[in-house]
Amino acid sequence: MKIIKVKNNQEAGIQAAQIILEKIHANPGCILGLATGSTPITTYQNLIKAYEHKQVSFKDVITFNLDEYKGLNPTNPQSYRFFMNNELFDHIDIKIENTHVPSGLHTQNPALYDQKIHKAGGIDLQLLGLGVNGHIGFNEPGTAFDSLTHVVDLDPSTIAVNARFFDSIDLVPTQAISMGLKTIMNAKQILLIATGANKAEAIAHLINGEITPNWPCSILQQHPNVVIIIDEAAGSLLK
Ligand code: GLP
Repeated sequence: MKIIKVKNNQEAGIQAAQIILEKIHANPGCILGLATGSTPITTYQNLIKAYEHKQVSFKDVITFNLDEYKGLNPTNPQSYRFFMNNELFDHIDIKIENTHVPSGLHTQNPALYDQKIHKAGGIDLQLLGLGVNGHIGFNEPGTAFDSLTHVVDLDPSTIAVNARFFDSIDLVPTQAISMGLKTIMNAKQILLIATGANKAEAIAHLINGEITPNWPCSILQQHPNVVIIIDEAAGSLLK
């Protein structure tokens, strides 16, 4: 596990974008796993900047997002598809048909998503945020380590944390579709970003804790190629 320590989320975004840009320069048709949440927004801003400065083209890049709320239409501003278009895809030269977000409407056969990833050649680099409770994607505490893409019941704590994006907590979907922990572990490389004091406990479990489904992020200790970018606050419980 390689740990990169930065001052704040702004710096994390610069470092993470750099790693992603190197991947694309080495392989312009690479397959990226992408994440939503507030954490990767600065990363996406730096990728857009690099595109605007003609330092990169995304025209052959393929992307697979981690997750989507069940029941939300892609045009719903709270959907993760909307988020990705708005924060990244609409501002770069990626072909929209090369971008994949699990459908929140058609969730009958979630494993099809894994087949699609496999068919494309597998994920070269998976970007991850981190839930306060240690979730990655929407793999809540208790998720099986061998899980593939599946429908999940969101933890009440996750619903509470994510309510800030909705007009009221009652509007937060109670289920989502998410890549499983095995789907994530199948990526060739993982790049996780965690910033802010509310991630410190999960970071301590991720890096030094026992490997247990109670802290889904702890599974990453078993991945051979993980880079973690943390700011001072998120690293504050590390020895
Ligand atoms: C959501 C997403 C995760 C994300 C997490 C952290 O629950 N499903 O993929 O990592 O939130 O979000 P934030 O970056 O806003 O703290």
